[in-house]
Amino acid sequence: MNFEFQNPTRLIFGAGVISQLGKTAGTFGTHALLVTGGGSVKRSGVFARAVKSLADAGISVHECEGVEPNPKIKSVRRGAQIARDEKCDVVIALGGGSAMDAAKVIAAAAMFDGDPWEMIFHGQKKVHIPTQALPIITVPTLAATGSEMNCGAVISNEDTCEKSFMQTPCLYPKVALVDPELTVSVPKNQTAYGVCDIITHVTEAYFNGVDGTPIQDRFAEGVILNAMEWGLKAIADGADIEARSQVQYASILALNGWVNSGTNGGYPVHMIEHTVSGFEDITHAAGLAIINPSWMRFAAKHRPQKFVQFSERIFGLEGKSTDDLDCALQGIDKFEAFLKDIGCPTRFSELNIDGTRISKYASETIRIIHDENGKLPARPPMSEEDIVSVLKAAL
Ligand SMILES: [Fe+2]
Repeated sequence: MNFEFQNPTRLIFGAGVISQLGKTAGTFGTHALLVTGGGSVKRSGVFARAVKSLADAGISVHECEGVEPNPKIKSVRRGAQIARDEKCDVVIALGGGSAMDAAKVIAAAAMFDGDPWEMIFHGQKKVHIPTQALPIITVPTLAATGSEMNCGAVISNEDTCEKSFMQTPCLYPKVALVDPELTVSVPKNQTAYGVCDIITHVTEAYFNGVDGTPIQDRFAEGVILNAMEWGLKAIADGADIEARSQVQYASILALNGWVNSGTNGGYPVHMIEHTVSGFEDITHAAGLAIINPSWMRFAAKHRPQKFVQFSERIFGLEGKSTDDLDCALQGIDKFEAFLKDIGCPTRFSELNIDGTRISKYASETIRIIHDENGKLPARPPMSEEDIVSVLKAAL
């Protein structure tokens, strides 16, 4: 298909680049809002290094701390208020996906008079799509969401149990300062969840996209294979900086728009997971690890060819034909086994989630995003019943 690709984020990548934060932020002004999460950046010393670099460059730091996992709109409101009160010139995210997503929306909310929730794309109702935001710098401390170099953000509303997203060009960070050293203290389980998130970003476009994208297929398979290979090493030895670097690079590539250019794929697994975690407040990638293999088994029946290709190229299996469903399902089993091996849950029961709210998850997902036929955009498009069956199979 025809496509356009532009990613304006300047990427500064490598061990030790955190020392460039002050100089980088200084190009945007003298007052920075530093958005952080639950405190791990302080315990690991990353916060002190960031603040020192900013102070050395003469930048005043105002903090919006305590952004929760599954970042809430109330944190966005709080951050935007600090940014306005302190007349911040730049918003710096120092943390994982939640700090980065919150920082992006804070940067836009600081320049918007209405309530920030009006900017979130929930239920396809009329939303305010912002066209301006304060300059954003992302400094990820976790390789997972890929939020560092794209213009998307996912935000939850604790009052309504809604979790939805915004995606618009003004949210592209001006700079992504990506230092794999900052991820060495990430515990094994979070590292594993990150690997699952990275792989799922790629499989969404790979399996839901149009036919005839051979370069993007090979690109996606390369990201998956590298995330698996180096992810295992990073989980085995968190201090392995080479492994941390490879996983971090995979995280960026998985969702900066380049791998999926021209594929026009939907993100059904993410959309379903967002709804589930809107209700259950589970870790994003734990939800993905449960839903993705189940969704793959559903989708493989409709399009075995792509799953046979996946099985052959990722796991070295050999299909009897290009549409050998057994081979497709074996590859999915192997993928699920990999997720289990690295420590991800693969059934809802492992998170003590029973099936009582499954129809609610399905109807909410469809409400938040649907095509002209009322189905969740995917290949094949999913009805409410399809979503229920995928979720039931994952109990
Ligand atoms: Fe994700």
